[in-house]
Amino acid sequence: MKAGKLYFGSNLKMYKGVADTAAYLTELQRLTADLNREGIELFILPSYTALPEAARVTDQSLVRLGAQNMGWEEEGQFTGEISCRMLRELGIGMVMAGHSERRHVFRETDEDEQRKVRCALDHGMIPLLCVGETAEDKRYGISREVLTMQLKIGLYGVSREEAPRVRVAYEPVWSIGVNGTPAEPAYAETMHAAIKEVLRGMFGEAGSRIPVLYGGSVNPGNARELIALPSVDGLYVGRAAWQADKFNILIRDALAACGR
Ligand code: PGA
Repeated sequence: MKAGKLYFGSNLKMYKGVADTAAYLTELQRLTADLNREGIELFILPSYTALPEAARVTDQSLVRLGAQNMGWEEEGQFTGEISCRMLRELGIGMVMAGHSERRHVFRETDEDEQRKVRCALDHGMIPLLCVGETAEDKRYGISREVLTMQLKIGLYGVSREEAPRVRVAYEPVWSIGVNGTPAEPAYAETMHAAIKEVLRGMFGEAGSRIPVLYGGSVNPGNARELIALPSVDGLYVGRAAWQADKFNILIRDALAACGR
């Protein structure tokens, strides 16, 4: 049996509107209500516009809600941004920083992600920092270097006391989305172990308490093998999680693979 808390989350990206999000969350809570939350944590990141309704219909002791992004100041001349204070006002306590689509489509930098992580921690939120190498990085053999940079810059200034509030998702860019290829389990394990080593180097023992989730084309065919890997603490699922009944089955299969 695999020890420790297991994490299952999904980023809904720019798909579900208000009604669909509410229906999805209601169904997911109902289907997973019997799972003991001491052993697992479930979280969902809806679109901004769906967050107020999501917060209304969701018991966050069952399903934690998070935002997919945020501005890093409380307020100011930042047209189009949503601040940490605005998210807190809605009862949102978690926020993602550095999803590969933010980094690669919207050209965000490691410094941008660092500011978001800092802002999240300063406002009592849980930051979920996503890291991952591109296919090019992999070809050049610099995946570890890239991950180390993303972690060292993204988590710069985080104290040892704050570290256990952070979560990391390892999502190799080449594995994400409709054109992605899931990472081979052995490769995922190597990268997760490397990430954990960097986190221990940065935060000592507190670093080993940071959960590291795998994401990128997780599906019903590979979830069991991925979650059973020693250095994988959870699964961060996109497409395969967007129907509540399918996500529920995937979670239960993964738990079974861990002897739960
Ligand atoms: P995917 O998305 O599971 O659909 O590949 C993963 C993600 O973008 O987090």
